[in-house]
Amino acid sequence: MTEVLRVERLNKRFGGIVVSDNVDLTIARGEILGLIGPNGAGKTSLFNLISGVLRPDSGRIFLNGEPIDRSKLFRRARMGIARTWQHMLLFRTMTVIDNLLVAPRAYPGESILRVTFGLGAVRAADRQARDRAMAILTRMGLEHTAESMVTDLPFGQQKLIGLARTLMNDGPLLLLDEPMAGVEGAAYETIKTVVREEAASGRAVCVVEHNVSFIRDLCSRAVFMANGKILQDGTVEELISSSVLTELYFGV
Ligand SMILES: Nc1ncnc2c1ncn2[C@@H]1O[C@H](COP(=O)(O)OP(=O)(O)OP(=O)(O)O)[C@@H](O)[C@H]1O
Ligand SMILES: [Mg+2]
Repeated sequence: MTEVLRVERLNKRFGGIVVSDNVDLTIARGEILGLIGPNGAGKTSLFNLISGVLRPDSGRIFLNGEPIDRSKLFRRARMGIARTWQHMLLFRTMTVIDNLLVAPRAYPGESILRVTFGLGAVRAADRQARDRAMAILTRMGLEHTAESMVTDLPFGQQKLIGLARTLMNDGPLLLLDEPMAGVEGAAYETIKTVVREEAASGRAVCVVEHNVSFIRDLCSRAVFMANGKILQDGTVEELISSSVLTELYFGV
């Protein structure tokens, strides 16, 4: 097992609310880990801590064995932590393709390119990014939307575009925060296929989802979180059959 992400004894509180309580977590290359738990459990906060939106009070975070907890958000994105946002943050007055082109990704850096190779190299890098964006849209069956304004598209497609933008970053770790919320029909199947393919290509994937059947379909392993604490780590079936969890979450 090749470990991509390691989180050790991670702690974070907002006043009286503990959002991360001594969290230990690892995700391996090629794995799709499910992260489930009730509203307010700290799932999004954990993504915020890993991706660098939030600073932990204590604890360590490693990506491919390198400590990243002192790196800023944009550095972590460049190191290959790609994430979606629970409340989609698309640029609504921009076209679909431009939404993809603003995504943080491994980019050689315009100024260095320009100094070394001139404007031609910058244009070549732009063209490459555009080709990559079109390839991702095509893979999701959205190539025809490239020049549309985001606001003109139905919600399910907007959700796919949020995922497409995240895929512009093809680094080792992919964090998906409720990719299925509000999605049905064809988009649902597309998201499932894409997530499977990303893991099969060797990325480590973590999915937060309230849709348990989605987690069951995709994840061989899942963790259950409540009040900032990871209470159980096992197969989805093990989690569902745990009496503590059924009371806390499944409401039985
Ligand atoms: N920046 C912040 N400042 C203060 N409190 C916060 C902040 N971010 C999150 N919280 C609080 O921390 C708790 C955990 O929130 P979080 O969004 O991580 O939960 P979640 O598990 O993602 O829930 P949901 O399933 O509803 O998305 C909540 O009580 C929330 O109100
Ligand atoms: Mg959340």
